[in-house]
Amino acid sequence: MGGEEKMMEKSLVLIKPDGVQRALIGDIIARFEKAGFKVIGMKMVWADKKLAGKHYADDEAWMKSLGTKTKAAYEKKGKPLKETAVEVGRRIRKLLMDFISMSPSVALCIEGHGAIEKIRILVGATAPILAMPGTIRGDLSFDSYELSDASGRPLQNLIHASDSKEAADKEIKIWFKKEELHPYKRIDEPLLYRKVK
Ligand code: CDP
Ligand code: MG
Repeated sequence: MGGEEKMMEKSLVLIKPDGVQRALIGDIIARFEKAGFKVIGMKMVWADKKLAGKHYADDEAWMKSLGTKTKAAYEKKGKPLKETAVEVGRRIRKLLMDFISMSPSVALCIEGHGAIEKIRILVGATAPILAMPGTIRGDLSFDSYELSDASGRPLQNLIHASDSKEAADKEIKIWFKKEELHPYKRIDEPLLYRKVK
């Protein structure tokens, strides 16, 4: 197998309810397309509690890592959280489940070379206020831990994007049936994947 095939990846991207309500669907999808990635699955979904619970799974390891990341961010601000990492993760999971089912999201399956990591770079840091300009969250939102905490809701950061191959495989199956993913060629693929030998 050539290196280019090994790194051909699929990622699950959600434009979350804030992105849809702010009419940013087109703008967000365009960024992935312009980077060379191919949308191979796309639909609008109003997630119910069951789907929300599958996506934000009742999985202790995931809640712990979410909580650990969050505790580190608050510590850095000089406002350490008293709860354990799992408690923080569990609290945020509940907020996320309410948020994702508040109104429709757009689910995308996006394919391309190194798609998982590059999409995370295009999306930017979790807290939009800290996200770099040029990233989707950095350019299109200012939400912060302070504002979301004071408002009793999770960070509204427009996007979910798979963070690993394992997560992508699992998440794509949650949001798409096999027949909802469509293989086709982009017209610029001969250039993007050009070979001289
Ligand atoms: O989305 P990303 O992979 O950057 O972050 P995550 O650590 O996987 O967290 C999932 C989602 O939880 C984030 O996108 C936020 O919407 C939310 N979150 C939050 O509301 N408050 C936190 N302290 C951490 C995450
Ligand atoms: Mg994540």
